Amino acid sequence: MAQEQASQLALAGKVAIVTGASQGIGSDIAKVLASDGAQVVLVGLGADAGQAVAQSIGDSACFIEADVTSDEAIDRCIDFVAEKFGRLDILVNNACSYVDQGLGSSRDQWFQTLNVNLISAAIFTQKAVPHMGKGSVVVNLGSTGGKFGAAGRAIYPASKAAMLQITRNFAVDLAPKGIRVLSVSPAWTWSPATQSMSAGNIEVADAVGARFHPLGRVGRGEEVGNVISFLATDKASWMTGVDIPVDGGFSMLGPDQGVSPREWFVRLGPDALA
Ligand SMILES: NC(=O)c1ccc[n+]([C@@H]2O[C@H](COP(=O)([O-])OP(=O)(O)OC[C@H]3O[C@@H](n4cnc5c(N)ncnc54)[C@H](O)[C@@H]3O)[C@@H](O)[C@H]2O)c1
Repeated sequence: MAQEQASQLALAGKVAIVTGASQGIGSDIAKVLASDGAQVVLVGLGADAGQAVAQSIGDSACFIEADVTSDEAIDRCIDFVAEKFGRLDILVNNACSYVDQGLGSSRDQWFQTLNVNLISAAIFTQKAVPHMGKGSVVVNLGSTGGKFGAAGRAIYPASKAAMLQITRNFAVDLAPKGIRVLSVSPAWTWSPATQSMSAGNIEVADAVGARFHPLGRVGRGEEVGNVISFLATDKASWMTGVDIPVDGGFSMLGPDQGVSPREWFVRLGPDALA
């Protein structure tokens, strides 16, 4: 990319960290931020996968293998960014664990999943903030899963609901420094989780997802990345402490999925007694 073109991109000159970026939505977010001009430091588990994502992005990305539940590992990431770039503009707390057995979850499972999904986001933010200046942004990954009841789950949705709460709290604390804190809440998004449920067939995922997302399919990680990229620009300079659904309309529907009662009676009618 010509230097002149690169300097006109929305995130030109900015430095970003994306956690959990060696696969899934995190890797898609990293790709979008880089294509919008940021230098992106991908943080996560799995050196081979992480390096491969960084290499696919090119010179504007690098990967650091780091477990976000380790304070020492977070320090290593922050020190690297401080030494290499001398600034940090965007932190995306994306890393997550889906380990969750609902009501049957053990104490250890509660600790582990909350540690990855929630506590590590809080500590990463705490350690990043001293390197962030006015106009910087922290974006936390929420989920529609943290907004509604669902069978057999407890830890993951609790962690995601809590992400929205720390977003508000940190937004208050960091507003005087000019640092904005936001969350995005995707619904079903094409990623290893949805890939495993649809045997890797995106048409199947879209067809099943169409029933629950008015826009008629599952989301794409790039679409989550696009919203985060916008939030990281000065065009979102008056936004902080709020959650942005990136969900194809999933969360605007009630349990009737946007279908009228009359239509449900037509569809189910006497069959409901069977
Ligand atoms: N996939 C969806 O449909 C969906 C929907 C709503 C929200 N989300 C959110 O989007 C984000 C990404 O989801 P995904 O489906 O791509 O998940 P994923 O499991 O594919 O990726 C999560 C990443 O986090 C990393 N990770 C896990 N533990 C870690 C640790 N201790 N240290 C560092 N990295 C660690 C994993 O290695 C992986 O790269 C999550 O925050 C998730 O809650 C996903």
